[in-house]
Amino acid sequence: MCGVIPASVPVGSFPGPGGAIRILLGLRLQASSQPEESAIYRSLISLSIVLTLLTVVLSAYIRLAEVGIGCEPWPDCYARLDPAAEQRGITVLSEQGREMAHYGARVAHRYIASVLGLFILGIFISALRQGHKRSASVWVPLGIFAITVFLSLLGYYTPTRSNPLITMGNLLGGMVLLALLWWLLQREVEARTGAGVPARLRLPVTAALVLVLVQITLGGWSSANYASGNCPGLVSCQGDLLAAGNVGDAFNPQRTITLDATGKVVAEDALGLMSMAHRLTALLTAAYLAWLVRRLRPQPQLRATLVFLSVCSIGQILLGLATVLSGIPLWLLTLHNALAAGLLLACVNLLHRATPAAAAPPPR
Ligand code: HEM
Repeated sequence: MCGVIPASVPVGSFPGPGGAIRILLGLRLQASSQPEESAIYRSLISLSIVLTLLTVVLSAYIRLAEVGIGCEPWPDCYARLDPAAEQRGITVLSEQGREMAHYGARVAHRYIASVLGLFILGIFISALRQGHKRSASVWVPLGIFAITVFLSLLGYYTPTRSNPLITMGNLLGGMVLLALLWWLLQREVEARTGAGVPARLRLPVTAALVLVLVQITLGGWSSANYASGNCPGLVSCQGDLLAAGNVGDAFNPQRTITLDATGKVVAEDALGLMSMAHRLTALLTAAYLAWLVRRLRPQPQLRATLVFLSVCSIGQILLGLATVLSGIPLWLLTLHNALAAGLLLACVNLLHRATPAAAAPPPR
């Protein structure tokens, strides 16, 4: 990720966690000087980015491990759900919670997410206090806060694996939260001058961001519907993928999962179509990103970001191929999420650099 950190981040001006905690507790807020409060604000955003990335990866790991990704004998053991157990609503920080599978990862996820929630509350309060001196529109911290509340409620009230829309809300919510925090940090630390990045590049950069988001959505949707068990080969799936009705069913956001009498997800033909859509669109995404990198290459200040973007893009395709060819191991698919996040961060960085700031950032 270091490749996309803006070059002008004044590292020394980030206070330690103590400053961040002060802002959370509201202590010395009135007394703190503008530069100190700005530095605390930046620290909170930076720490939140790290915690969000950890939460995204941990959450993917727990979800995928729980439904048996990569289990043996594959794919018979995969996607066996227990909605009755989910409805009992046992939480990990309870006496019975100790019996839950992947206990350590769940506890880590719970604590990290809680600290993240507090940090984001601090960011929101601090952003409101800045008024017209804010470096980004108020909608950004508001969006960050709203997504955090949404994700907490989603996790608390709907801990289910049998509703694809809820799984998607979780996965996409985490990714968008990460992207918004990263945008906020860059707007905060780097005065946008637009120098060297012509405005005409904004459209192709925006298209890259949209394409990466679509690609993440297709991967998440395929995973949320337990599609990979249907496509053992790289381009071969069970059933008639293009049969009438399949397309509508595969991409219907309200589609429901059917379980057989043993609780296993029924392998409908639409599942193969989801998997293939994700794999084939990946080629389109990678080709577009390669074209964009070539187009942006004459901009010397984008060099680090372009290298990072290329590594993530090529790495993601190779990783996707390796994942399928080696029977979808848990750790490879978890890493697949991390690289998806990397692609997203690189595109957000490019968009930031191609977007003039609406207002001058506060004095440092
Ligand atoms: C730009 C490229 C790509 C991006 C951004 C991307 C992103 C994603 C994401 C976010 C997921 C969801 C993971 C989860 O559920 O936690 C996913 C799943 C998956 N991806 Fe990709 N992916 C890309 C390319 C590929 C390629 C090239 C392949 C294989 C040829 C592939 C194979 C898979 C598989 C097998 C899954 C699991 C889906 C399931 O369970 O049905 N991906 N991808």
